[in-house]
This record gives sequence, C-alpha cells and structure tokens, in this order.
Amino acid sequence: MAGAPGCGKGTQSKMIVEKYNLKHLSSGELLRKEISDKTELGQYIDKLISNGQLIPDELMIDMLAQQIDLLDKNSIEGIILDGFPRTVTQAQALEEMMDKRGIDVDVLIDVSVDEDELINRLLKRAELLGRSDDNIDTIKQRFDVYHSKTKPVSDFYKNADKYVSIDGMGTVDEIFVRIGKVLDQLQSQKNK
Ligand code: AP5
Ligand code: MG
Repeated sequence: MAGAPGCGKGTQSKMIVEKYNLKHLSSGELLRKEISDKTELGQYIDKLISNGQLIPDELMIDMLAQQIDLLDKNSIEGIILDGFPRTVTQAQALEEMMDKRGIDVDVLIDVSVDEDELINRLLKRAELLGRSDDNIDTIKQRFDVYHSKTKPVSDFYKNADKYVSIDGMGTVDEIFVRIGKVLDQLQSQKNK
C-alpha cells in the first residue's frame, strides 16, 4: 500500500488484514516501536522521522526482512506492506527479498488524495496522537520527500504491470470498497 503521508495507508491496511487474513507490516510503525523502546538506533531514527527524512535504505530493508522472517507464513494468506517500498532501491530489494523466500509481490495499491485533504487529516491527527512528524513544517518536508523519492516507485510497478491507483478521497468505508474490488479481482485471478 502506497501513497502520500496521510492518504490512509494505515487505516485501510488495518481493515484489509481483518477481511483477507493478511499480516500488516508498517515500516513507520516498526520505526516508531524502535523509538518507543528507547534504543540507540531509536534515537537516530527519531531525528530522521521528526525532520521528515527517510531512514537509509539498507537499514530499512534489513528491518523489514527480519520482520518477514518472523512471520508464521502458514497461518496467513499474505502480507500487506504499508509504507514500504518508499524508494526505487527498496522496490528492487523487495523483489529480491521475496524471490528468495518464494513469495510473489502481487500489486502496488497507490492511494491518491488531494494535498489539502492530506494536510487536514494530518493536522487533525496531530491533535489526537501528537506524532512528532505531524506538524506543518515536517508535513511539507514529508511531501517533498514523497514527490522526489517515493513517486518514482510507481513507475517501477507500472513497468512490471503491478500497479493500481485508487481514489483515496471520500469516507474510509468508500475507499475500503474500492481497495476490496482490487483484492477480490486479484484473488479470483490467482484461483483460475
Ligand atoms: P509512515 O508512518 O509510513 O508515515 P506516512 O507515510 O507519512 O503516512 P502516515 O502514517 O502519516 O499516514 P497514512 O497514509 O498511514 O494515513 P492514516 O491511515 O494514518 O512513515 C513515517 C516516517 O517513517 C517517514 O516520514 C520516514 O521518516 C520513516 N519511514 C517509514 N517508512 C519508511 C521507509 N520504507 N523507508 C524509509 N523511511 C521510512 O490516516 C491519516 C489520518 O487521517 C488518520 O488520523 C486517519 O484516521 C485519518 N483518515 C484516514 N482515512 C480517512 C478518510 N478517508 N477520511 C478522513 N480521515 C481519514
Ligand atoms: Mg501510516
């Protein structure tokens, strides 16, 4: 699941995993866990996240691979990655990582939302959760990084014919129906 900060990756992923018996792996949540555990690595990550910068590819790829290896793959139907891959290097590494483990990367679901709406959502969340990166300066920095480093990931999946764009404007339930259609279609193709 991909898309700009605040597009609904986390919200939708949580709903999808329940319906489709998938495991949700969020790179942002993994990183925030490291911060709340107060490790040395967490302090380093905290600075980057608070400034709206990406964590270096190699570190992020290693952290994600470790999580995938911890999963009991027999008890789930698949994995939904939220916020990963975020660079073309990560996308290439993901292909390799999954190939080695005999897992297919099926599709990139790219959730598209207008920037004004993204800012509204993130500022509203700032009042509720107080995430260190939910302030207007860091939000703008996150958008810049998204446009320069993450947007090109879409082309990687378009070229591989594994790209679907979803309209992320509307209610949470409306968007969930749109994503559900993509997943149902994917499932029926796999069962053919
Ligand atoms: P990450 O945690 O992934 O943050 P993000 O991409 O900025 O996105 P958010 O989590 O803020 O938004 P979301 O799309 O999940 O939307 P949500 O469902 O919460 O990454 C944080 C940082 O970690 C990065 O900046 C980077 O530093 C680092 N990082 C993470 N992954 C990395 C990687 N792969 N490589 C390197 N660095 C990495 O929704 C937002 C709000 O809107 C919520 O309050 C929600 O309730 C609300 N909402 C959702 N849907 C709707 C709707 N339809 N209508 C109204 N409100 C809605
Ligand atoms: Mg999120």
